[in-house]
Amino acid sequence: MRAEHPKLEAGLAALGIDVRSGASLSELTSLGIGGTTDLLRITKHDSIPDLIELLEHHNIQYKFLGGGSNLLVGDGELPWVILQLAKPDPEIVLEGNFAHVDAAADLGRTVTFCAKHDLGGMEGLIGVPGTVGGALRMNAGAYGMQIGSYVREVKLYRAAERKIEILKGNQISFEYRHTSFGPDDMMLAVTLELPSKPFKEILQGIRICNEKRRSSQPLGQKSAGCIFKNPPGASAGRMIDELGLKGLSVGDAKVSDRHANFFVNAGQASAKDMLALISDVRGRVENAFGVKLENEVVVWNA
Ligand code: EPU
Repeated sequence: MRAEHPKLEAGLAALGIDVRSGASLSELTSLGIGGTTDLLRITKHDSIPDLIELLEHHNIQYKFLGGGSNLLVGDGELPWVILQLAKPDPEIVLEGNFAHVDAAADLGRTVTFCAKHDLGGMEGLIGVPGTVGGALRMNAGAYGMQIGSYVREVKLYRAAERKIEILKGNQISFEYRHTSFGPDDMMLAVTLELPSKPFKEILQGIRICNEKRRSSQPLGQKSAGCIFKNPPGASAGRMIDELGLKGLSVGDAKVSDRHANFFVNAGQASAKDMLALISDVRGRVENAFGVKLENEVVVWNA
């Protein structure tokens, strides 16, 4: 989808939108899969309601992209443009135990920045790729913690209301890899309340989590993290492994040899390959265990 109409281009320029024509989603996602479309980078949160109105007026479909680390995008020319927040400077402002963080901030850098200021709690998230906004939307978690526990306030674009709103932490429900945000809501900024902890102690926790992650996950390879959510009381990775499916592949889409719930792009995998692998593994797990695994990875397929 191209944002090419002259009136549309003028409108985008007036809103301070930075347009990158023909961007490849394979370069914007950690899986390295996805077709091409125009990327519209938002420099001012306040421009979003007008931007949406402008796109709808020109019948342009759109999707909001965070860090692209939990996402599988379809192949070829995509039927929607991509909206993404540009990173502001500064991304994080601290005020006592509160961290005001822009949604475009990198999650790992946020954890280390807060750590250096003796604010802890998020050690488990250190190796989780992506932005703070993406982590927030899906309530990312690892090693016994989840980001939702620290959320006190969220600024977001509410798609249903067509406006920017501020929600208090207690107005949002955070569950395992699930939140009460609407599917088209766009995270803009968050205030986290973090416990005080000496930097050295936080660093120790970070090292332990890093070590665990390095020993069990395929960190150097292109992946979207875990493909499936864990079913209650079970591990999707263990189930897939028990069926001997590590290494199973469709084209260059492959079940990791290291962690069976990570599917990697071992070369030039297409979305079609990856979707076929997901469907194959889901079917085999259902046949063997009677459990239908639910995607954790978000799929944008045309
Ligand atoms: N296991 C296997 N084979 C495998 C993978 C795992 O036998 O191929 C076994 C492990 O030995 C362990 C159990 O399954 O006994 C659980 O494995 P692990 O500790 O790796 O945790 P997980 O449930 O597979 C979850 C999250 C990860 C997170 C880790 C650590 C989900 C879907 N996954 O994985 O999150 O990093 O715990 O907290 O909740 C993600 O969400 O993308 C993600 C990577």
